[in-house]
Amino acid sequence: MKLAVIKESRAGENRVALSPTVAAALIKAGHEVYLESGAGLGSAFPDSAYQAVGVKIGSKADALSQCDMLTHVNPPTADEVGELRNGTSLMSFVYPDLNPGILDALKAKNIAVFAMEAVPRISRAQSMDALSSQANLAGYKAVILGAENLTKIFPLMMTAAGTVTPGRVLIFGAGVAGLQAIATAKRLGAVVEVSDVRPETKEQVESLGGKFIEVKADNAVQVEGGYAKDVSAEFLQKQKEAVEKSLFNADLVITTALVRGGKAPVLISEEQVAKMKFGSVVVDMAVEQGGNCAMSKSGETVEVNGVRIIGALNLPSSLATNASELYAKNIQNLFNQLTNENGLAFDMEDEITAGCLLCGGPIAAGS
Ligand code: NAI
Repeated sequence: MKLAVIKESRAGENRVALSPTVAAALIKAGHEVYLESGAGLGSAFPDSAYQAVGVKIGSKADALSQCDMLTHVNPPTADEVGELRNGTSLMSFVYPDLNPGILDALKAKNIAVFAMEAVPRISRAQSMDALSSQANLAGYKAVILGAENLTKIFPLMMTAAGTVTPGRVLIFGAGVAGLQAIATAKRLGAVVEVSDVRPETKEQVESLGGKFIEVKADNAVQVEGGYAKDVSAEFLQKQKEAVEKSLFNADLVITTALVRGGKAPVLISEEQVAKMKFGSVVVDMAVEQGGNCAMSKSGETVEVNGVRIIGALNLPSSLATNASELYAKNIQNLFNQLTNENGLAFDMEDEITAGCLLCGGPIAAGS
């Protein structure tokens, strides 16, 4: 198959869908790869690195008009879709609910769309799970960003001039990003406390050296497929009371809490921000879904009563070399899963194919 990689057009995006290493593996397997010149620069992959493994470098129009499959990180623009040939395919994050019109544009050209966010979260698909590979890096970066914005250090330091007590970190949400944030903050020497609504996260938090903040409320949380789905108002109130002491003592607060299919829960109110320590920092990773802190602004840093609140957007892009390497591996593994020697296999009996194919292929044919 002929695969294309083009520059991402989302503002501030440094990632690229295929790394030179993955392009080399695909070419070795008998495929061709077309790259828009400069598409890898944001990830520190120059054209020469792709050229060395046999990638064909050209213009965006060349890549789009020749490919059988476009590989991308963010959803392509309407213009980019317009340049694809009818009946080709796309592998990318798509998020149709957040990008109205994108599926209609793709359907109009009968493009088979494989959405990275729709890959089922099952063990067999872990190597294709781009949500996890990117969230893991984002969790790491949230701690580094927080550390950079603090006027304090994390580890306990005993010096001749006196003892520096360890920094205190509070993390909301112990999913993929939250768990990596715990591990990173612990490695830096902080005292880490964690709140999550899924009771099974307690053990995971403790295995990383974090302290789990218990909330006493029965049957108040619905979990579906490993995701928190519905959290009662009673639970949220009790959680608010349980975390307050930790919140008002924290130097750094990282929020990652999301619920399936809904807006992110507001876990830090304006009144609570007013009681937080002067000089403390909040990194709100849920800001794209509305934010876990009532005062967060998407993509901005605001300061309220000495508390710095960072509305962190697209953290994986700031670690683009690693993020692109891992994303490209996810793409390669999904590509291998979806194809056989004749091209796309469209095996709709397979949970992974059926889960991530949003339109085109057998779906367009009405099966
Ligand atoms: P997510 O990004 O949807 O949510 C982050 C965390 O926020 C979750 O742990 C959630 O329980 C928590 N949360 C929701 N409301 C909250 C509240 N009010 N207060 C505090 N925390 C709150 O989750 P993510 O990281 O995408 O993982 C979701 C699930 O998928 C997990 O169970 C994870 O183990 C599972 N998973 C399975 C994989 C596989 O088997 N292939 C791969 C990756 C994740």
